[in-house]
Amino acid sequence: MSATETSEPNRRDFLYIATGMAGAVGAAGVAWPFIDNMRPDASTLALATIEVDVSGVEPGMSITAKWRGQPVFIRNRTEAEIEAARNVELDDLKDPVARNANVAADAPATDLARSAGEGKENWLVMVGVCTHLGCVPLGQAGDFGGWFCPCHGSHYDTAGRIRKGPAPTNLPVPTFTFTSDTSIEIG
Ligand code: FES
Repeated sequence: MSATETSEPNRRDFLYIATGMAGAVGAAGVAWPFIDNMRPDASTLALATIEVDVSGVEPGMSITAKWRGQPVFIRNRTEAEIEAARNVELDDLKDPVARNANVAADAPATDLARSAGEGKENWLVMVGVCTHLGCVPLGQAGDFGGWFCPCHGSHYDTAGRIRKGPAPTNLPVPTFTFTSDTSIEIG
């Protein structure tokens, strides 16, 4: 083997190693922005919790807030709506679980457990996404006077509990708290 022949493979080896290193550096350079993008920025963190002013929401009125990209229905229920929901036997419910992040996971879906609780039974706060396939139900509609999802015909009552149609579970109640009589923090 001549000196030239000996040096050729070495040079190729060197180029190969150099190219390999450039590739590795390049890959790291590409990977970093992806990892960086996965970190929630300040605006995302701010949206994790929202404060909603409900001072103008009279009995019989609703507002829809946006929280983590989802609609949240906030309804100030009338006495008649509360009464209607209270009169439902738990055995008649399709989903007997409260689905309320603020109470025990297995709490029964009584009207009180679905509402904002003692003294604030008139308030309902729920993620407004049908538990069937994710449409946004219409308020004060359907066979039970609560919410109606026209996509495939799911009927929710005045406590947001599924009563008829293909939706499997009650509209979920997110974590929330009244920070004053007129302000609700969600999240
Ligand atoms: S998405 Fe609501 S009934 Fe199908």
